[in-house]
Amino acid sequence: MNNFTFCSPTKFVFGRSVTDTVGAELAEAGYRRALIVYGQGSVVRTGTLDRVKASLDAAGVSHVELGGVRPNPEIALVREGAALAEHEQVDIVLPVGGGSAMDCAKGIAIATGYTGDAWDFWSKKATVEHCLPIATVVTIPASGSEASNSCVISNDAEGLKSGCNSELIRPKIAFLDPELTFTLPPYQTAAGVTDMIAHIMERFFSGEPAVGATDNIACGLIRAAIDAAHIVMDEPENYDARAELMWIGTLAHNGLAGCGLGIPGMRDGDWSCHGMEHEVSAADPRITHGAGLAVIFPAWMRHVWKSHPERFLTFGAEVFGIEPIDPEVDDLSAIDEKITPERAVHDAVEATIDELQDFFMSMGMPSTLGELGITEGDIDQMIRGLRVNRGESFGTFRKLTLEDARAIYESAL
Ligand code: NZQ
Ligand code: ZN
Repeated sequence: MNNFTFCSPTKFVFGRSVTDTVGAELAEAGYRRALIVYGQGSVVRTGTLDRVKASLDAAGVSHVELGGVRPNPEIALVREGAALAEHEQVDIVLPVGGGSAMDCAKGIAIATGYTGDAWDFWSKKATVEHCLPIATVVTIPASGSEASNSCVISNDAEGLKSGCNSELIRPKIAFLDPELTFTLPPYQTAAGVTDMIAHIMERFFSGEPAVGATDNIACGLIRAAIDAAHIVMDEPENYDARAELMWIGTLAHNGLAGCGLGIPGMRDGDWSCHGMEHEVSAADPRITHGAGLAVIFPAWMRHVWKSHPERFLTFGAEVFGIEPIDPEVDDLSAIDEKITPERAVHDAVEATIDELQDFFMSMGMPSTLGELGITEGDIDQMIRGLRVNRGESFGTFRKLTLEDARAIYESAL
């Protein structure tokens, strides 16, 4: 088990109606003026925004608001929000929404008071030294941004989508009210489930040796996510299944699922698939992050599994109950070919990857980049973005070159 630091300082307020306690919690923590940040209208239509504002009013927490955050949030609104936060002298930023509202809010929180251009934090010209406190009302379990140390922002002018990581940007308080997720469209539910599973797999497939405790947490969370996903796709208002997904989404990305699997001093996982997906949704910001991952992850797995087949065998056995054929034990009378041990491993790993991809597809996720509107002509631009964001080589399960990335993209077309 490798050395690690695990710090999840967020206070989680979970359950039915916690949306109505936002004001009281913020007031108790000493906050007096909030900048509410939200997306393109779902929280207005569902009444969530009004509930949050009513609870702030009741607790004497004044507020200003900034709406219109688009999926794959863009730097222009971060700049606008930082100017507003400064002008309005807010003491907390309060996103109400998904990863996009949360990441825009995190961006605002770090850019407030910074005298240079906000993009400096994503182009790595500046490091985060100050950050306004953040509290968040989560409306979609997916990004895990409510407990993560990262913040992903797009820059349309430069054709980039980049991450900024800092321990300072983990939210102080996260409100997780599963009933808010009843209104999610099936596609967003599915993309969210894919993203949370991807956050666990990025860590599981770090390339480092097994850690029993962490592997059991990881595979258990994925099994629970698959079970709950099957339920909510049929019953969108099943509270317990929605609640399971909400909590799994948080635990998938607060660091718990990576303890001991990271290389000290580096990130706690491989993160190649996230890097490659971010270039997909940078190429077309209408592409949902989770849907991109549903395509990229299986393609990456097929490209790299031979570097550590044992991790895939563990994953297949624990998540899907897939075991390699054992010629000593299994009845092979129906199989013509000779099953060598290598062949048995190959078949078990391929079956595992197929099963994962079938699960994503069963929820309505795509299996090719073509379904997302990406063509061969987009690959050069995606490679250019990868070079900026990840350099000439990246990843820990297997170090990938940009040529590997190109091969993975091409295999997924
Ligand atoms: O914009 P509105 O109108 O609110 O609609 C949103 C949006 O269209 C809608 N939605 C959200 N909650 C809803 C709802 N519709 C009905 N009922 C509800 N309760 O869903 C759509 C997607 O929202 P978005 O916030 O974009 O989704 P998600 O949470 O998946 O966030 C995606 C962003 O997070 C980044 C992604 O790259 C992407 O930019 N990520 C952030 C991470 C982090 N900060 O740690 C890690 C992730 O790996 C990821 O990269
Ligand atoms: Zn993600």
